[in-house]
Amino acid sequence: MGLFGSKSKKLNGAKKLEGAVQFPGDKSISHRYAMLAAIAEGPSEIHFFSSSADCQSTLDCLKALGVKIERQDNVVKIEGVGLTGLRAPSGPLDAGNSGSTMRMLSGVLAGQPFRSVLVGDASLSRRPMKRVAEPLTRMGARIKTAEGGCPPLEITGGHLTPIRYEMPVASAQVKSAILLAGLFAEGETVVVEKLPTRDHTEIALEQMGADIGRHQRTIAVRGPARLEGKKFYVPGDISSAAFFIAAALIVPDSNLVMHNVGLNPTRSALLDVLVPMGGHAKVVNLEMLNGELLGNLHVESSALAGGEIREGLVPGLIDELPVLSVLGTQTEKGLWFRGAAELRVKESDRLAAVAENLRRMGAEVEEFPDGLGVAGRQKLRGAEIDPHGDHRIAMAFAVAALVAEGTTVIKDSSCVDISFPDFFDLLARVTG
Ligand code: S3P
Repeated sequence: MGLFGSKSKKLNGAKKLEGAVQFPGDKSISHRYAMLAAIAEGPSEIHFFSSSADCQSTLDCLKALGVKIERQDNVVKIEGVGLTGLRAPSGPLDAGNSGSTMRMLSGVLAGQPFRSVLVGDASLSRRPMKRVAEPLTRMGARIKTAEGGCPPLEITGGHLTPIRYEMPVASAQVKSAILLAGLFAEGETVVVEKLPTRDHTEIALEQMGADIGRHQRTIAVRGPARLEGKKFYVPGDISSAAFFIAAALIVPDSNLVMHNVGLNPTRSALLDVLVPMGGHAKVVNLEMLNGELLGNLHVESSALAGGEIREGLVPGLIDELPVLSVLGTQTEKGLWFRGAAELRVKESDRLAAVAENLRRMGAEVEEFPDGLGVAGRQKLRGAEIDPHGDHRIAMAFAVAALVAEGTTVIKDSSCVDISFPDFFDLLARVTG
């Protein structure tokens, strides 16, 4: 055991990133395909299913609800039981660290004529669930939360009625929970988004034959729905690729090719921000699979201007803001954003965690209630990083370590398994 414990990871500066990489299947899309396949008619086969611990939590919950699932590496076979075929679980359903599992599954459980309890780990047990409990209760489910609207969630579902819901927060998980519940309600359930968020649920529902309509920020689904099992291919996770995109841009002499990266426009705002700042990130071989865009990305080291990230872009890169903040320290003007208070209720308080760890590395950073500002052209020093158990903080600071002077130690680095178990191996490979 080293100075910082067996799970800490030591990283030094990198000379360059080079080679070709392929990322595990998208976590957001994998959750959705699994849940929808479970309540579809007939078998589904999901290829390139995410290797994340979070998506395994979804599969385990579905199994506990009586769904037959076989997994061999990244291929998952699911025997759909139809809308009414789930069985009451014999104990609590454990969503682990996964907010997506807990929130989206709540929508499915709201439609079931039995009681279920959803629990999570210490981090998930602190996260807000009222945002799903409130609309699902309006649809007719009975939902109890712990104090402050936090998990565990006790859901007794049953007969649901459609609602029209104007979302008070920009959240794809909440939107998806309502759309999933809408599959069980007789008539048209309508969700109006505050700002556009990732639309993987809408796309998957269309692909599986649901009656779903979309116009700008309004989405309507008609129930009761009949979904058809399908063969799916999951694109590479752009939120995992983001760490390598950022690293290749800021480490000199880098040249990295990334295959089959998901490029759904509601997820790729990262490129919309970085390319106008001078980032050499080229998309080649764009194609469409199961309604999802994907392509190969070619990224090279670049001089980045930096600047402000507009508030409207925030939902489209919500998971990428920690690594963008790190990247901001290596730009000409620095980088700043507001309108991201949601980051305070993720797996950790990501605004505080990024500010704290950037300061540990000697950087100048300003923390706002809903954003961050980092100065540009900063020299980072190796430091001990506390990711607060948050996978995206650990990976963002692994990127910082590559441009820092000296050694960086990331404590409890195994939290990367939540979304990207092979992260450090892949990073070692491309940095030689
Ligand atoms: C996700 C939506 C986002 C994102 C999370 C995954 C999804 O959360 O941060 O990592 O798969 O729908 P919110 O819905 O809370 O914004």
